Amino acid sequence: MTARRRPADAAVRTAAAYAARADAFIRRWGRRAKRCPALLRELLMLAGPCAAVLDLGCGAGQDARFLLAKRHHVVGVDLTWPLLAYARRHSRRVPLVQGDMRALPFRPGAFDTIWAAASLIHLPKPAARRLLRALRTMVPRGGLLAATVAQGRHAGFLRTGWIPGRYFARWKKAELARAVRRAGWDVMQLLVVSDRERKGRWLNLIARRRG
Ligand SMILES: C[S@@+](CC[C@H](N)C(=O)[O-])C[C@H]1O[C@@H](n2cnc3c(N)ncnc32)[C@H](O)[C@@H]1O
Repeated sequence: MTARRRPADAAVRTAAAYAARADAFIRRWGRRAKRCPALLRELLMLAGPCAAVLDLGCGAGQDARFLLAKRHHVVGVDLTWPLLAYARRHSRRVPLVQGDMRALPFRPGAFDTIWAAASLIHLPKPAARRLLRALRTMVPRGGLLAATVAQGRHAGFLRTGWIPGRYFARWKKAELARAVRRAGWDVMQLLVVSDRERKGRWLNLIARRRG
């Protein structure tokens, strides 16, 4: 009798897709530690100096290096080994964890602030909703979350594009706002922005832990 292989889940397939195109990803994103996204700047203004920041889905680590250079305490988490390896080669001082954002190994209140740039999009929506609830426990009352999420309706595995094979979920603005509120965050800002680099319309979120 032959055992049937279970299909790999969305996270495993997505990380494999990034690993297969790691060189291209790094060429495009990895070398930008000096160019900080506007949303991250806004987040840091709210967070104040020396914040403890979780860079969730840190990729090649460019934002984590920026945060470290600005004297924040940053930990980067990502599932894709070749991207983390690049991040490690370019900074020995940023703590990096290879892990799945669905099972984060951090104690309650470990961070002041969570930064999730284009990473929540890689989870199916029920898992993203669970993650939003879990992230809430990782900051103290009043702690901050900022995320960029692709706007739209489609969710599923990408068949084309520069990194095919990734799971990619787009969110409608009201849908994301509802999910964030239900997870115990107050939405401070939720803007639709056109992102030339990431292509298309994105939602820029800043939220504060309620209660
Ligand atoms: C579009 S990239 C963004 C990377 C980085 N935040 C940036 O702005 O350049 C998405 C990242 O999420 C990571 N990722 C996807 N699914 C993940 C999961 N389940 N757990 C941890 N990281 C994940 C990928 O490996 C990839 O590095």
